[in-house]
Amino acid sequence: MRRKVVVLNGPNLNLLGTRQPDIYGHETLADVERACRALGAELGVAIDFHQSNREYEIIDWIHAAREDAGAIVINPAAFTHTSVAILDALAAFDGLVFEVHISNVHKREAFRHHSYVSGRADGVIAGFGTQGYLLALRRAAALLAPAPAA
Ligand code: DQA
Repeated sequence: MRRKVVVLNGPNLNLLGTRQPDIYGHETLADVERACRALGAELGVAIDFHQSNREYEIIDWIHAAREDAGAIVINPAAFTHTSVAILDALAAFDGLVFEVHISNVHKREAFRHHSYVSGRADGVIAGFGTQGYLLALRRAAALLAPAPAA
C-alpha cells in the first residue's frame, strides 16, 4: 500500500481554535496541519491535508485518494451524522479509513451518536482532542507498507 495519507476535515473545522473552545480546544486547524505534517515526516508518510465546508469537495478529495493514497484520516464533522454520499465515496476507496472526532460525540447530543462513516471506517477515535489525528496517523503508518530504506 502507498505511504500517502489524506487528512480530510469537514464543515466548520476551519473555525477550530475560536469555535466553542470549551468543546474543541484552542488549537487551530493550521496547528493540527503542522502537527500532522511533522509526524508524517517522522513516520515517512506523505500528507495531504484539506478542509471544506462543501460536501462535494470532500467527496472529490476521497475520489482523488483512490489514485495514490494508502489511507484516509477523516473528521467529517457534521457530515458524519448526515452524509450517505461521503460513506459511499469512502466505500469506493480501497485503502484504510480512520474516522476522527475531537470531542467525544457519544457524550454529547443523541443526534451525534450515529455516524454513517463508521460503517466503513477501519478505526474510530473520539474524545482525544486534536491528538486523535496523530493517533490515527500513527496507526495508518503502522499498517501501511514499510518506508523504503534510506
Ligand atoms: C466533530 C463532532 C461533530 O458532531 C461536529 O458536528 C463537529 C466536530 C468533532 O470533531 O468532535 O463539527 O466531528
